[in-house]
Amino acid sequence: MDFMKKVAALVLLCCFNWICLVLSEKVSGNQVINIAHRPSTWAPLMHLSANLSDITSITSHFEFRTYDPEGIIFYGDTKDGQDWFVLSLRDGIPEVQIGKANILISVMGGPKINDGAWHKLELRSEGKYVIVEVNNKVELVVGMHSDQTEDVLLGVIRLALGGMLVDQNRLLHPFKPEMDACIREGHWLNLSTLWETNWELSPCISEIKKGIYFPGTGLALFNTSDLPGMETEEKGVTIEVNGSWHGTLLSLKSHGFKYMLPGTEGLEANKDLTMELKKGSGSSNTALPLKPTKLTFTILKHSLMINNKPVLENENMDFFSMWKEGMILAFGGAPEENQESKSLHHLHGCLEEILIQGKEINLDLAFLKHRSISSHSCPAKPMNELN
Ligand SMILES: *[C@@H]1O[C@H](CO)[C@@H](O)[C@H](O)[C@H]1NC(C)=O
Ligand SMILES: *[C@@H]1O[C@H](CO)[C@@H](O)[C@H](O)[C@H]1NC(C)=O
Ligand SMILES: *[C@@H]1O[C@H](CO)[C@@H](O)[C@H](O)[C@H]1NC(C)=O
Ligand SMILES: *[C@@H]1O[C@H](CO)[C@@H](O)[C@H](O)[C@H]1NC(C)=O
Repeated sequence: MDFMKKVAALVLLCCFNWICLVLSEKVSGNQVINIAHRPSTWAPLMHLSANLSDITSITSHFEFRTYDPEGIIFYGDTKDGQDWFVLSLRDGIPEVQIGKANILISVMGGPKINDGAWHKLELRSEGKYVIVEVNNKVELVVGMHSDQTEDVLLGVIRLALGGMLVDQNRLLHPFKPEMDACIREGHWLNLSTLWETNWELSPCISEIKKGIYFPGTGLALFNTSDLPGMETEEKGVTIEVNGSWHGTLLSLKSHGFKYMLPGTEGLEANKDLTMELKKGSGSSNTALPLKPTKLTFTILKHSLMINNKPVLENENMDFFSMWKEGMILAFGGAPEENQESKSLHHLHGCLEEILIQGKEINLDLAFLKHRSISSHSCPAKPMNELN
């Protein structure tokens, strides 16, 4: 694990189902930090505290890279959270929210920065103003004044990355916090203080492309009643996926019913599809579609189809009402598979996109998602060149 300067000994307490808990560890704030794969939605990945009296410059700057349109980046507060501020992205655009005395502020502006390139962000406080620069250009200036506040020069300032230290219900403009992004070259209030983290940090992949990456260790679950539904009986519900992967792409489960899309080994039995996958992979003796492949899964009233070929037909089933009432749709394996085991069936690969009824599905909206999955970025190099 040479990607991380481990300052304190890393004590692994336990690895239960979804998360690895590490006894408080100190890490440097100017290394490359992956703020995706957080253990829980609002808890920060890492945080630090400093005495305001030690601070010479209320300026923080860092480089930031993401394809994710929405999520939390950076949080700071004083007076034990009475005064706080949050930097996030919404629709790819920086947004600042501030809570001070009984004022709540939310401002967004500047360019879309979720293009997968590194961008420099700077935040600073100048008297009654908070200023955000993107790529050395001032993009947001937020001024505020209240008779009820005094400028605090004493006490503790706290910073957090990838989460908040106060209740998210205090936000004026709520957002989805999950953020698949990396930060590097961080300079935080001109302090060399180390950050504290309770979690094992994930490395950042040096070159990324847009997509959904499953490293083969877990899945994402949706309730189909939350997803777009059937429009006409003839067309049914379609799930279109393109990408490069092996293992189980998806499965469906409801009371007394289970269906798992054949894993690549199982696809051997389905000649037409295997032919197609082989064509895609450019190899005659492996069914692993490591080259881009497109698959359409169609749910009709009494049948399931892959690329217009029926794979299951049952007159006693009504898949439309099952979809509407709510089945579990799992991407990356079957829901009952042990989450931590590196199952053969677990999907490994990059899905460029998942469309359900033509609408792009954001994996951050899954009701359960393994933290190893990257919802918006994949390694840019083909998988077989990794490791
Ligand atoms: C802040 O200063 C106090 C007293 O000078 C000290 O006890 C405390 O450890 C300092 N806290 C931090 C976070 O540096
Ligand atoms: C940052 O800290 C260094 C030394 O720790 C100091 O020389 C420099 O002036 C500080 N910068 C600002 C903007 O306060
Ligand atoms: C997969 O979908 C993306 C997004 O629509 C598209 O840009 C890309 O060309 C598609 N790839 C294939 C192989 O169809
Ligand atoms: C899916 O959502 C529906 C409606 O909220 C609920 O009744 C159903 O129990 C859910 N299904 C599962 C498998 O969680």
